[in-house]
Amino acid sequence: MRKKFVAGNWKMNKNFQQAEELLDELVDVVSAKAAPDVDVVVCPPFVFIEMALDICRDEQSRNVFSIGAQDVSAYTSGAYTGEVSAEMIASMEAEYCIVGHSERRKYHGETDTTVAQKVELLLQNSLTPIVCVGETLEERENGVLFDVIKTQLTDGLFHLQPMDFSHIVIAYEPVWAIGTGKTATDKQAEEMHKYIRSLIEEKYGKEIARKTPILYGGSCTPQTAPSLFAQPDIDGGLIGGASLKADDFVSIINSFGK
Ligand code: 13P
Repeated sequence: MRKKFVAGNWKMNKNFQQAEELLDELVDVVSAKAAPDVDVVVCPPFVFIEMALDICRDEQSRNVFSIGAQDVSAYTSGAYTGEVSAEMIASMEAEYCIVGHSERRKYHGETDTTVAQKVELLLQNSLTPIVCVGETLEERENGVLFDVIKTQLTDGLFHLQPMDFSHIVIAYEPVWAIGTGKTATDKQAEEMHKYIRSLIEEKYGKEIARKTPILYGGSCTPQTAPSLFAQPDIDGGLIGGASLKADDFVSIINSFGK
């Protein structure tokens, strides 16, 4: 059995007080109501990571859920004003980091080359990269969606040694589905997830392909998650908007097997 994952990407939302409120609420609902066999990750903005780690520790000092960052610098350290390094994230005891999100590709010049550099640094610091891939509407309509995903995977990830690749989580996020309310159909999502798994199998073999978690992201809601998560190659979700409401997020976590 593959691990089931649900990760929340808060993006640039909430101020300090609102973040604290949401984290308090999340700790309560996740510890009381969430399926225990699902790995839950919350990725707040950098400035709230320390607070998130403090709040999500239970009485036994275990984290109720894991904490991740939304991005990382492609550089190790030094004169890069405003950047945050993989070592900094790891030293705070966060465990995950999103890389290659389409918003970073679109607004901040992220490329498959920077994705590859960032993944390398995250792995060196024992952080788990959640690597996003996805096609635009135009690319889908032009029928090049599979080529686009293949290039993103090949250039961003397939340089890794099998041992390193086995620590990767992939998120398929069709750009046209992000924040639009237009969720991919179960069929569209499963078709791409299956294709991604076939590419991993071609490169790294059956065993690694079988074990790699592939998440779906893009307008995933408590309504759409159950049938998406029931698809054989969909192992969970990377959730934007719906991760900002504790009840919606926990409903999505509980969508497996429904
Ligand atoms: P939405 O769930 O808001 O569409 O965002 C998805 C996403 O980009 C998660 O990384």
